[in-house]
Amino acid sequence: MRLEDLDTPALLVDLDRLERNIVRMQEAISAHGVALRPHTKTHKIPAIARWQVAAGAQGITVATVGEAEVMMAAGLADVFVAREIVGRHKLARLARLARQGPLSVAVDSVVGAEMLNAAMGEAGVQLEVLLEIDVGSQRCGVPPAEVVPLAEAVVKMPHLRLKGVFTHEGRAYGQGDPAAIERYARHEGEGVVEARDRLAAAGIEIEVVSVGSTPTAVGAAAVPGVTESRPGNYVFMDLKQVDNGVCTLDDCALTVLATVFSKPAPNRLSLDAGSKALSADTGAFGRPEEGFGLIKNTSYRLWKLNEEHGILVAEEPVPFGIGDRVEIIPNHACLVPALHEVAYGVRNGQVEVVWPIAGRGKF
Ligand SMILES: Cc1ncc(COP(=O)(O)O)c(C=O)c1O
Repeated sequence: MRLEDLDTPALLVDLDRLERNIVRMQEAISAHGVALRPHTKTHKIPAIARWQVAAGAQGITVATVGEAEVMMAAGLADVFVAREIVGRHKLARLARLARQGPLSVAVDSVVGAEMLNAAMGEAGVQLEVLLEIDVGSQRCGVPPAEVVPLAEAVVKMPHLRLKGVFTHEGRAYGQGDPAAIERYARHEGEGVVEARDRLAAAGIEIEVVSVGSTPTAVGAAAVPGVTESRPGNYVFMDLKQVDNGVCTLDDCALTVLATVFSKPAPNRLSLDAGSKALSADTGAFGRPEEGFGLIKNTSYRLWKLNEEHGILVAEEPVPFGIGDRVEIIPNHACLVPALHEVAYGVRNGQVEVVWPIAGRGKF
């Protein structure tokens, strides 16, 4: 199949760029003697996860029980669910997965740990857990200073095994300054290492000290004591990463192929990729002028998205006509695969592989 044979909107993955991104991150993290456990929620495609493992990743990260089910059914082993799991339906599914192979899950409260322990007890399995540490992003987790009581409770629970601590420093997004990103990266690494040290002082030893986001991955891996890194977005990169100074446009592997279907004025047109194909994610700094995606190999950014319309408005006439097809680099790649049924792996204008997005809609 050639690119011209695809209907639009279509999700494209540039295979050369994907491969380069996988290898580059693996080498950068391995250079610090740290294990890479990529977050696969970005792509949700088992074949890409296998590619990451073949390049040297030690296990994978997922965001949901459904993603873990998909990845394990496809033969991926050693899966970390990097989110607290609550509710009897999901806990029963988690227990079933725990029987199948190495699996670990996030914990950030005694109440949550008790529920997990009870569910694993009922199923007669033991599950590995990592305590989530909040280094300042104020999402989930306990601050390093409060990790000891949580760990002391968890180590008494017979169906849980305390494996480590982890964090995600989301604040490095939107900095736009390498020095600021580096500061967040160091802070991220130091925060989890502090948690490990506090546990050690209380007589609790752990194996895994895990950090992870694409902007901070390499900087945090350089902090002594960090053992694992979990970036996810790096496989595709996106406009946010470019504007944040993390990569260049040439690193962006994910695009949405779209067709111009309306051009009511020389400087205004609509593409058939709206928020249902691109997501409504805003740019790196959340400013209106950042738009909603960049037309590849141009400087045109979409001005606005409706569900089925990607609208471009420029100061001057735009060089595209009705029926023309363009590729759009999305603001943020992480939501986009979840909006498509398949991704087309492309090299030299040829579709080499069609991947179902197996993890889409899997919660
Ligand atoms: C817990 C956790 N770990 C790792 C990541 C990967 O971060 P990024 O998408 O910046 O690579 C995320 C992303 O949201 C996350 O929530």
